[in-house]
Amino acid sequence: MTKKYVTTAIPYMNGNPHIGHAMDYCLADVCVRYYNLCGDEVRLQAGTDEHGSKIWQKATQLGVSVQEFVDAQAGKFVDFISQLGVNYTDFVRTTDTKHEKRVQEIWQRLTNHIYMDTYEGWYCTGCERFITDKEYEENNGACPDHLKPYEKLKEKNYYFRISDFKEQIARAIESDKMLVLPEFRKKEILRLLADSPDVSISRPKEQLEWGIPVPGDESQVMYVWVDALSNYLTVLGYPDTDDYREWWPAAAQFVGKDILRFHAIIWPAMLLGLGLELPKVLISHGMVLADGQKMSKTIGNVVDPMEVIEKYGLDAFRYYFLRHVDTFNDSDFTWEKFENAYNNELANDLGNLVQRLAAMCAKNGIELSKLPELDFDAEYRVLMDKFEYAKVFDCVWEKVQALNKRIDDEKPWMLAKNGETEKLHKCLSGLVRDLLQVNYELKPFIPVTTDKIDEIFAGKIEPPEKPLFPKQ
Ligand code: MSP
Repeated sequence: MTKKYVTTAIPYMNGNPHIGHAMDYCLADVCVRYYNLCGDEVRLQAGTDEHGSKIWQKATQLGVSVQEFVDAQAGKFVDFISQLGVNYTDFVRTTDTKHEKRVQEIWQRLTNHIYMDTYEGWYCTGCERFITDKEYEENNGACPDHLKPYEKLKEKNYYFRISDFKEQIARAIESDKMLVLPEFRKKEILRLLADSPDVSISRPKEQLEWGIPVPGDESQVMYVWVDALSNYLTVLGYPDTDDYREWWPAAAQFVGKDILRFHAIIWPAMLLGLGLELPKVLISHGMVLADGQKMSKTIGNVVDPMEVIEKYGLDAFRYYFLRHVDTFNDSDFTWEKFENAYNNELANDLGNLVQRLAAMCAKNGIELSKLPELDFDAEYRVLMDKFEYAKVFDCVWEKVQALNKRIDDEKPWMLAKNGETEKLHKCLSGLVRDLLQVNYELKPFIPVTTDKIDEIFAGKIEPPEKPLFPKQ
């Protein structure tokens, strides 16, 4: 049994959970379920990013204490994750005392690579990021993502000497020792890395109260990204317990494309500074859009995943999200596309297949003494190991459609009518066996449905009373 550690980005607590956050969780959950089915022992981390000026500002606006505010927000994310059917093994909040202490220890272990300097330049509070002059010019002085002018800063900061590790990181990315997916992001990251100056990793306390103090310097607070990135290690007990040794390096880290730069540059530099291995794979997904546009409350095009789940069920959401929302590129969630996929693919293809096969088995006394032992084939494994989840779905769906066609071609009802009992039994048991294989391949993606299908076909076969996916 291999131990595998899978991580998700920890969202900022200044906003509420939304459909974009679901992407990290759903992708990581498929990965974990697949590893588990392959016999691995897996840990899945999730958590909340609770420091920083945006969170401070939001709580102040609402007139509540920051701690009260983040407690309430964190609760919303815990609920959100469980409603997506995602079972994490470890949860970290960056305001946990244990996390804070561990991050301070991490800082101390990095001091050989840290120096003090004065930063004079631009900052985006939306991105919590220092902006280079080149970027400032390219974006005409305002952040294209947050539509807010960059702020001018002149302050004394601690810097992290990224230059100590640039070559090593570049080699790891080029050689796929730290595999960056998708492939087309690799070049982009290598360019950013080559241009990357040393990064400022603290802010003066008077600018940012709400953060972890820099050990040994009361006047400075850590930059949120040092705090946030460390969560992947602190949640494993690093550095004061030895548990992390069994789990690190991570098998897969899931992040959005907007934060890949932090994970592919600052994070590896921190790890190398700590003498730790780099993660095996960094998977960066695209953004979820609505009708080609960023979702925003002002435009009124925000899709709430809970609305989808309440109306159509969890698996319908996961199915659409994992198959029809492109994993690696920006991609739309539209109700029209969703409803088409639901009715044509889930209700017609899969739902009907299960219904009619189970009904024919029940009618003709077909029973399974127990569910067969199943395994994944090579083609499936290759795609899953490359995190090409939508392609896996395409392949599995061909098999679903082929099974429907086989029923139409082999016409079991004619065999029954003609009294060809042996042929009929062979035909139906063959179809059930192949359906169960398909069902096995769907397990990482739509776990509620696949459990139901197992139940229907284990032992005495009975068609479900209600269709798996009632037409809407
Ligand atoms: N707090 C940082 C992450 C720190 S990880 C050490 C952050 N938070 S976030 O709330 O802005 O984003 C959390 C995750 O959600 C990121 O992976 C981000 O890419 C993802 N998404 C946020 N909006 C998204 C969409 N509209 N679409 C897809 N994913 C998006 O960044």
